[in-house]
Amino acid sequence: MADNNQPVLEIEDLSVAYVTPSGLVSAVNDVNLSIYPGEIVGLIGESGSGKSTMAYTIMRLLKGDAIVTKGRVKILGQDIYKMSRKELREFRWDKMSMVFQSAMSALNPVMTVETQIVDALQAHRKGMSYREAVARAEELMDLVRIDRKHLKSYPHELSGGMRQRVVIAIAIALEPSLVIMDEPTTALDVVVQRSILDEIKKIQEQVGFAIMFVSHDFSLVAELASRVAIMYAGRLIEITPSELLHLGEKHHPYTEGLLRAIPELTADEVTIQGIPGYPPDLQDLPSGCAFHPRCPYATDICRQVRPQKLKVEEKLIECHLFSEKEAVEHV
Ligand SMILES: Nc1ncnc2c1ncn2[C@@H]1O[C@H](COP(=O)(O)OP(=O)(O)OP(=O)(O)O)[C@@H](O)[C@H]1O
Ligand SMILES: [Mg+2]
Repeated sequence: MADNNQPVLEIEDLSVAYVTPSGLVSAVNDVNLSIYPGEIVGLIGESGSGKSTMAYTIMRLLKGDAIVTKGRVKILGQDIYKMSRKELREFRWDKMSMVFQSAMSALNPVMTVETQIVDALQAHRKGMSYREAVARAEELMDLVRIDRKHLKSYPHELSGGMRQRVVIAIAIALEPSLVIMDEPTTALDVVVQRSILDEIKKIQEQVGFAIMFVSHDFSLVAELASRVAIMYAGRLIEITPSELLHLGEKHHPYTEGLLRAIPELTADEVTIQGIPGYPPDLQDLPSGCAFHPRCPYATDICRQVRPQKLKVEEKLIECHLFSEKEAVEHV
């Protein structure tokens, strides 16, 4: 049985960089995050903030040009970077799985849905007969709400939404403890997106795995997740319970900017206030707080000293604004 106090995922001081001809691109910087059994944690940030890099690092699926420069990733207490290839192969999909951004690239175009699910099951469950695997595939189709007849379909015969449901079915087929979903619905239209998210939530409640849900859609993540981690230039600059994610709360100025960027519908107009400026060059990160060039509250200390993570009420925030005047705890 899963121990509720033992995190499913522990990320400790993790930094990841891409090696490029012009130097290192620091895509993930000093990340600390734990996810507990059955928890849904959202990871949000602008394009290029390092979300996918972090997701691939957790799965140990980084390509050759990326290196973990610091830190550890543990799944169910096991350091996945200390595993042999064989151990990792057995662990992946069985204990942790990932739903990628593009469903099409995750599916084999020349195999039926049934064959793909059955193969995934039998690769990991040596004793499972074909008949048992098909029965499980049928159960999974029910779970993701696709008619069982589509087990005989090829990916191109399905709609985008159905394909993404199949990918989710494969990801949860072996009942992993952790599923990483990297923008699983971004390519789909809003209605389909909404229904798949509802489904994910229902299945998660039923089956009980933990989810790291990557997205750049704030309102969507806040609705689905119980905690939200906000990424800026590869750092988790804030981790907050989702119910506290609104403008009335104290937040990192970047989080505040993102919250303001959500269109607000007033009587007869929609107002959008974005964050001025651009994310920094990851090959040449600003001194001090990486957000200082865009921050309306930046002072000298922000330009000179990198802020520590502070506990501000129920939130973890990396920002000098909170260090002195607030009753905060250093972590
Ligand atoms: N193979 C690579 N070589 C060099 N730099 C890379 C490589 N892959 C990603 N990067 C850089 O690393 C940074 C983080 O990229 P990543 O894909 O993790 O961001 P993301 O938050 O997932 O963005 P998006 O929301 O667009 O998916 C970006 O600046 C990107 O340009
Ligand atoms: Mg991405």
